[in-house]
Amino acid sequence: MQKILVWDWPVRLGHWLMAGGFITAWLTSESETWRLVHVVSGATVVAVALFRLPWGLIGSRYAKFVDFVRGPTAVKDYLASLLRLEPDHHAGHNPAGGWAIILLLGLAILSGLSGWAIYNDLGGEVFEELHEGLTGAMLAVVIVHLAGVVTGSLLHGENLVRAMLTGHKQGSPEEAIPSARPLAAVVLLAWIALAGWFIAS
Ligand code: HEM
Repeated sequence: MQKILVWDWPVRLGHWLMAGGFITAWLTSESETWRLVHVVSGATVVAVALFRLPWGLIGSRYAKFVDFVRGPTAVKDYLASLLRLEPDHHAGHNPAGGWAIILLLGLAILSGLSGWAIYNDLGGEVFEELHEGLTGAMLAVVIVHLAGVVTGSLLHGENLVRAMLTGHKQGSPEEAIPSARPLAAVVLLAWIALAGWFIAS
């Protein structure tokens, strides 16, 4: 085992923009004064989630959905290995975390769409209720996600937060991805700018 590159640039940049966007949108959700900040940070979360869908098909090895979206048996086996305090090694996302990620991406898109409907005065209270319910559900999944990150870091003896910053985890050399794909991260930033322009216009 040695330090190897597992998270490409779009995954890492997208993650921290999504996390920052979600926290900012949450903190500004009740304020009229900070409404534009709320809308822009929410739009950032949706733009990242929408980018992540094709990146889950064409991205690097551990960004791909086929790598971490696994069936119930794989999830059960992984959870059983956690309970034995001998967690199975996964260079990318583990099978349980994989489902939290799918939920977060789905909820991000749905809550963003409902927020966009409110911003454009469509549908009245229905969308407001929906937006509140979806973002509340998202907060619950974020809390589970954070608990999973802390538990995973402790049981695997590896700082997963640092790995999401640097892109590096412990693994064997043949598990490493060959490139961090920096150009795709530039495309992600351009896409977010486009989403911001769309919201503002
Ligand atoms: C600020 C606190 C947060 C920390 C420390 C954190 C940490 C992490 C870590 C360490 C991973 C990688 C897990 C693994 O090794 O499998 C991850 C993945 C992920 N997190 Fe977070 N997270 C935070 C907040 C959030 C929030 C607020 C969201 C959503 C709104 C979020 C969404 C995701 C997603 C979608 C992934 C998968 C990344 C990908 O494959 O593109 N995280 N997070």
